[in-house]
Amino acid sequence: MRGTEKTKNIPIVFVSAAGRELNYAFTGYESGAVDFLQKPLDTHAVKSKVNVFVDLYQQRKALKEQLEAIEKSRQEQEALLKQLKVTQNELEHAVRMRDDFMSIVSHEVRTPLNGLILETQLRKLHLARDNADAFTLDKMRAMVDRDERQIKSLIRLIEDMLDVSRIRTGKLSIRPGEFDLVALVGRLLENFAPQVADAGSSLDFSSSGPVVGVWDEFRIEQVIANLLTNALRYGSKAPIQVRVYRVDGRACVEVRDHGIGISEVNQKRIFQQFERVSSNHVSAGLGLGLFICEQIVAAHNGSVEVESAEGEGALFRVNLPLSEACVS
Ligand SMILES: Nc1ncnc2c1ncn2[C@@H]1O[C@H](COP(=O)(O)OP(=O)(O)OP(=O)(O)O)[C@@H](O)[C@H]1O
Ligand SMILES: [Mg+2]
Repeated sequence: MRGTEKTKNIPIVFVSAAGRELNYAFTGYESGAVDFLQKPLDTHAVKSKVNVFVDLYQQRKALKEQLEAIEKSRQEQEALLKQLKVTQNELEHAVRMRDDFMSIVSHEVRTPLNGLILETQLRKLHLARDNADAFTLDKMRAMVDRDERQIKSLIRLIEDMLDVSRIRTGKLSIRPGEFDLVALVGRLLENFAPQVADAGSSLDFSSSGPVVGVWDEFRIEQVIANLLTNALRYGSKAPIQVRVYRVDGRACVEVRDHGIGISEVNQKRIFQQFERVSSNHVSAGLGLGLFICEQIVAAHNGSVEVESAEGEGALFRVNLPLSEACVS
């Protein structure tokens, strides 16, 4: 019985009619008995002995079950703790992002506002001194241009933040209409001329014939403007190439720069909101541009791709469907 798995734990009580020498009892115990009874048997004694062993067995079984239950709940606690740690990390990350975001927003808002208030104070000073020379037509033109740039950059900041909340609440509306992508990009590049000059860069635009489709013109312009702003910001002043073409039933817009580039690891992060990966944070923005771009293009059933390596510039390609009624 001791040699078989199924029976090895059964308590064995030896019953013997042999002489009352202790030796027999010892031999019995050595071969695995837990108790030893002499004949003739007293039923009462046998019953209570057996009951003791049954009780013992039941207690052991209950203990084993309790231990198993404890072990199970320990494992559950461990899993819960792990989950809590993950949530805690996510929360900490979110809080850090929010704090970063608040400080960047304040900085980004302050820069144009500082420019505007300084200009205003300077003009007030000139006015107080009746200095009409400070307000010649040429000077006024330059002033208005500067003001417009500052105000536009404030509006863009606020619009970006509004777009993010529109995306979050699923309210980013797309109003499709037919237009030529080549014409749109051409116009946009002309509008970008002052920024290109400011950045000390240059633009090269190529296309082969019109690329007409049904998309939201305002939103697509926003996407390409974002990519151009990035190319100027992170493009290390090198010339930027823009190309519009059609291939395999889709329209493509490519913006290629030759600046700091993006490592493979970071390429996965840059499309998330608030993610900024370049080390020159001085010139970086809110980290919303690419997030908004991707969401707008996705709403057109298109995609944004990036090809890049650190230090070797970046190529951003927007793919838009040409034929089907593309907008969801
Ligand atoms: N052409 C590029 N070359 C190198 N890095 C880039 C390029 N475009 C984007 N990045 C990196 O990806 C990050 C995210 O870009 P994104 O346009 O979303 O934000 P941003 O330019 O920092 O701010 P915003 O666009 O909101 O003003 C940037 O901070 C930068 O680190
Ligand atoms: Mg950007």
